[in-house]
Amino acid sequence: MSELRYDGRVAIVTGAGHGLGRQHALELAARGAKVVVNDLGGDRSGVGASAGPAQEVVDEIRKNGGEAVANPDNVATPEGAAAIVQAAVDNFGKVDIVVNNAGILRDKSFKNMSVEEWDGVIAVHLRGSFLVTKAAWPHLRENGYGRIVNTSSPAGLFGNFGQANYSTAKMGLVGFTKTLAHEGAKYDIKANAIAPVAWTRMTEDLLPADFKDQLGVDKVTPLVAYLVHESNPDSGEVYTVGGGRIAKILVAEGPGWGTKDELSVEAVRDNWAAINATEPHIVPRNVGEQMGPLIQQLTS
Ligand code: NAI
Repeated sequence: MSELRYDGRVAIVTGAGHGLGRQHALELAARGAKVVVNDLGGDRSGVGASAGPAQEVVDEIRKNGGEAVANPDNVATPEGAAAIVQAAVDNFGKVDIVVNNAGILRDKSFKNMSVEEWDGVIAVHLRGSFLVTKAAWPHLRENGYGRIVNTSSPAGLFGNFGQANYSTAKMGLVGFTKTLAHEGAKYDIKANAIAPVAWTRMTEDLLPADFKDQLGVDKVTPLVAYLVHESNPDSGEVYTVGGGRIAKILVAEGPGWGTKDELSVEAVRDNWAAINATEPHIVPRNVGEQMGPLIQQLTS
């Protein structure tokens, strides 16, 4: 079995001072990538800042013989995002790989969620991924090569009590990923998203303690590493990953029900079962494919 390597590749991993990002950075560096280890160094809710966590990961990479540089900037500001990308260009000459991983939690039931708790979470996850990718995009286009992984969450895909801010940001990243995949295709830029489950400081009081040993961050990183490898053929996809299991998440559409007669409220009621049917379903790869059944009805 040939080993997957990243020699000559330059990777940015945001939020790589702890948890999943740290593991992604260590793995990519161990396999030959030059890595910008970004981390703002705050607490789980995003309060505070310290250059320490990013530097510690860089020290570990260097001790193991790898190449890396630390960056303490904030992904959620245009200046911070630009500085992260500039660190890659200044130190290693280019950018090939962007792993948008930085994240915080400010959980509250929707009733009690403040505007600040909403904005803060959207800023780091959604705006941060946008800003870092936006700063890297011209470099990727110019190189005619890029691999992007955005970090979504099962909470975003399926909803989770107390996480209206977080799930909005995480589902937003799915749409972001799918559009980047379309716009990047011409330049061999591939964008995918993961919805991980792992035992980190973010989840240690949320996941069942019994699973701690089985939900290591090392059970997530191999998927990220594969998705950012040049041999990965897929783009615009979302995968759930954790505990050694990986599965594709589908955005699917049921067979639906339609009428050429006037559409009334009663017709909606009377056809509710057909409207809610999920089999057979389609998995459109773009808006054109999604429009297919409607066009068929309009032209039949
Ligand atoms: P973590 O708290 O260990 O790591 C997140 C890192 O992001 C921290 O080191 C933090 O300092 C950094 N960070 C936060 N705000 C930042 C900012 N503005 N700029 C730069 N760095 C910043 O948490 P974990 O679990 O490793 O999370 C990584 C990603 O995975 C997050 O996006 C999280 O939402 C996502 N995720 C994690 C899951 C899990 O089960 N651990 C589940 C679903 C998603």
